Amino acid sequence: MKSLIKAAAHAIFLALAFPCALLAGFGRFTGVFRLFAQAFALGPGVIGDYARAGYYSMTLRRCSLDTRIAFGTYFVYPEAVVEPSVAIGAYCILGHVRIGRHTQIASHVQVLSGTRQHVRGADGVLRDGMYTPVNIGAECWIGASALIAADVGEGVTVAAGAVVLQPVPAGISVAGNPARPIGLAKSAAKSMEQ
Ligand SMILES: CC(C)(COP(=O)(O)OP(=O)(O)OC[C@H]1O[C@@H](n2cnc3c(N)ncnc32)[C@H](O)[C@@H]1OP(=O)(O)O)[C@@H](O)C(=O)NCCC(=O)NCCS
Repeated sequence: MKSLIKAAAHAIFLALAFPCALLAGFGRFTGVFRLFAQAFALGPGVIGDYARAGYYSMTLRRCSLDTRIAFGTYFVYPEAVVEPSVAIGAYCILGHVRIGRHTQIASHVQVLSGTRQHVRGADGVLRDGMYTPVNIGAECWIGASALIAADVGEGVTVAAGAVVLQPVPAGISVAGNPARPIGLAKSAAKSMEQ
């Protein structure tokens, strides 16, 4: 019964979000995509969660309908990929990112598209740099207010407030600014003990 109600809710919100996705060219028109991404970010509670899942499932490169994306959060670029069973907390801003299956992202997390979006020439003038996609592996836990600017391997825990500037290998926990290893992620430690 619960799954039937969920499926009906998804169908309703897919239908409601369809005109917005169509105007955004199903992710082809970045400006329009972002306009609606920010509008959908303002939808409160569970209604907003369903509306965002509906919109992004039609506009991101890939996004499962079961993704939970909380209030205030939006994707900046339609090239993002979100694998199934991902949960993203409130007020996150997500750049060029690929998020692996079953990863949990807390609130106020920022995923930057690398760290070289602007470069300063010898004359001191800022010019356009490059936007590097960031991969976050499956089964990761990204703590509140973390800033992620480099790849994060599978099963990694990123502590609250960490600033990730270098790629993080799978299965460890990192904390601090810049983020450094503080140990094995608990599940990895447990399976090594067995
Ligand atoms: C990372 C975390 C999971 C703890 O992992 P842990 O492996 O149990 O680590 P410990 O608590 O044993 O701490 C290990 C070391 O890391 C440090 N550390 C832990 N969390 C830290 C953080 N957020 N920032 C800086 N250092 C941190 C500890 O002070 C400790 O340092 P020490 O060895 O010098 O004493 C936890 O601190 C955390 O940040 N959780 C995220 C919480 C959150 O954001 N929740 C939002 C809702 S989902």
